[in-house]
Amino acid sequence: MPKFLTKGVSTVRSLHFKLDSKPLFPFFTSNVSFWYSGQVALWQGIHQLGLKKLDRVLVPAYSCGLEIDVLLSAGLQTDFYRIKEDLTPDFEHLEALCKPGVRVLYVTHYFGVSQPLLMLRDFATDHGLLLIEDNAHGLYSKDKDGQWIGREADCSIFSLRKKLPIPDGGALILRNKTQDAGAERPDCQNPPLNRVFRSGVLMACQELVYLLPGGIYQAITRRKVEKEARQMESTDEAGFDQSQANWSTSRLTKWIIRHVNHSHIRESRRQNFQVLDACFRGGKTTRKLLGSLWDGCCPWFYPVMADNPEGLVNFMVSHGIWAGRFWAQEHPNIPLQEFPFERLLKRQLVVLPVHQGLSKEEMRRIGCVLNMWSAKETIPGVQNC
Ligand SMILES: Cc1ncc(COP(=O)(O)O)c(C=O)c1O
Repeated sequence: MPKFLTKGVSTVRSLHFKLDSKPLFPFFTSNVSFWYSGQVALWQGIHQLGLKKLDRVLVPAYSCGLEIDVLLSAGLQTDFYRIKEDLTPDFEHLEALCKPGVRVLYVTHYFGVSQPLLMLRDFATDHGLLLIEDNAHGLYSKDKDGQWIGREADCSIFSLRKKLPIPDGGALILRNKTQDAGAERPDCQNPPLNRVFRSGVLMACQELVYLLPGGIYQAITRRKVEKEARQMESTDEAGFDQSQANWSTSRLTKWIIRHVNHSHIRESRRQNFQVLDACFRGGKTTRKLLGSLWDGCCPWFYPVMADNPEGLVNFMVSHGIWAGRFWAQEHPNIPLQEFPFERLLKRQLVVLPVHQGLSKEEMRRIGCVLNMWSAKETIPGVQNC
């Protein structure tokens, strides 16, 4: 059997569909509800917390933009706070922003790395604020104390499709609701079939990328990167599509969630991150963003800061490896000129895959190509790692 087929069959068998693997947190909690996306989960959370138009929310200036669109669509006002170089909130700045009218502290666990939740919880309590945890990147991550992240806040949201092979999916946890907060609602709808079909095909293509032989992988990767670059350049304002506000997760997603090997996905992503981190030496022009992973963290990507991010993406793609600029698009509501570090992240961050379908050897190769780029940038003419 050709090598890629052997790899494909063993990956599908061992990794994706193993019937004895139980879903991990948040799937078994009593106060979780499932929605079409992280955005829809956030929209539902905002309304179930009883937030009203013109309530103010403290949001990190380093944000994706999709969450900002939901907050603004719900009529909330946003005040942006600084983050520090370790990506944790700047508490002094938060303190200065706590003025009358502020009702919520919004915190994001970037790449699945936990924020200092107990400190944030105390801060929110002391200032009479509700805490929203954006755990879009942090499915299956635990904090330094070994607690699942997404359980400390008044409202936590998850974007399930970032780590699981599903076409759609978001989860919402509301701390003070013990009943399922969404599934029983009469106005909660299944997403339209054509929508599920379209995103199902897209999802299958993305998953396949990790199973294909070099040449095809390279062609798909190049097209994916070109599409992402076009999206980044587009000035269309996406906003939040309120026609989706009551969409639950599709039946297809629910079925897949019951059958994937959750523990395997979690462990493989951790291991892949660690292998790449051990291989990548870092350098002057291409630097590591995160320290080493603690025991419970389940990462979304491997992020690096690059002086020439476009060049790095093209170099990786020319070696058949997907790499992408991360959150490079600036949201019109965030005054990034006042936030130099956050703007630098938008301009320089590049992410590399730690997908569960990649093997240790493939991760070592990614590290090797990354070192090659780093050496080439520092000492022109160097070609090999
Ligand atoms: C920090 C953050 N919050 C929320 C979302 C929205 O999640 P979804 O794409 O599932 O709607 C994203 C998506 O990338 C995100 O990065």
